[in-house]
Amino acid sequence: MASNSSGDQIKHVTVVGGGMMGAGIAQVTAQAGIKVTLVDLSEEILRASYHNMKVSLQRVMRRTYPNNAQQQDRALKEALGYITLSTSAEEAVRSTDLVIEAIVEKLPVKQKLFRALDTVAPPHTIFASNTSSLLIKDIAEGTKRLDRFGGLHFFNPVAVMKLLEVIRIPETSKETVRKMTEFGEAIGKTTVQAIDTPGFIVNKLLNPYMARAVEIVENGEATVQDVDTAMKLGAGYPMGPFELMDLTGLDVQKHVREINNERLRAEGKPTLTSEIIDRLVSEGKLGRKTGEGFYVYKKKSSKL
Ligand code: 3HC
Repeated sequence: MASNSSGDQIKHVTVVGGGMMGAGIAQVTAQAGIKVTLVDLSEEILRASYHNMKVSLQRVMRRTYPNNAQQQDRALKEALGYITLSTSAEEAVRSTDLVIEAIVEKLPVKQKLFRALDTVAPPHTIFASNTSSLLIKDIAEGTKRLDRFGGLHFFNPVAVMKLLEVIRIPETSKETVRKMTEFGEAIGKTTVQAIDTPGFIVNKLLNPYMARAVEIVENGEATVQDVDTAMKLGAGYPMGPFELMDLTGLDVQKHVREINNERLRAEGKPTLTSEIIDRLVSEGKLGRKTGEGFYVYKKKSSKL
């Protein structure tokens, strides 16, 4: 548990966006004994997020306290006790030290959210985005707290992945970077510092890797299964690129590709397309979350 006793530490976090990433971020915050409000406009999404956090926390507690059901139960209840749910970000941020945004990857939507929160959050509150493909400087535009603005980029599944990328824009103060880094450490993550460039560190390397994997399959050079097996057994990755895309979501993959293509077009560079991903997304096969993507999960059998 985080000690959180000094006045300088993050004691209350507001996570905006109840999807897979937002719920994961809220969960690991609560696990560390830090109060967190998870915000989403939809009560239905909040109910589903709460369920997902509970299931994931149960797995964490089983692993942390093996063969001790009572302790698992106690720790689960304690962690859940740090979580509140809200449909109003404006209300939640009034007494919050850190806002982490994990909503849809659409720049105008993120800008509108932060501009609205800027008028109601206390002056000391740090704003951070969990964006994976947009630039922090663009998201922060129009707010009056650029020195208290940065990126906190988590990885899926948040409960398991140990890394947190801490991103700064030129205006981000040293104090803000320090507080974001200390928050990352308090929730048990290893932090790395990155500047505000497309993809930061991990996605800058992962995105071209996944694009090349799709190209290999679309060119008929190897099957989905063989590419995955090759990267797991030949390169030591825990998952192959197609398993990973199924985990993070093919809709997300397609959307990120479109954002990157806009950038490539503006730079006069060739864009990336994928017939397979477009087809799977149009069929509603978005990966694990819908039970099917490159693989079928209910039957654990391969699709392509
Ligand atoms: N919640 C809590 N615990 C979990 C969990 C979750 N969602 N998922 C896995 N675990 C833990 C559990 O303890 C589980 O044991 P259990 O089944 O008894 O509860 C244990 O991990 C092992 O899990 P699994 O048996 O399900 O599977 P693996 O051993 O294969 O591990 C994995 C799963 C951790 C996802 C591993 O395959 C992995 O590390 N994959 C790579 C993931 C990755 O690269 N993520 C980054 C994606 S990029 C990204 O997120 C960027 C963003 O911008 C999109």
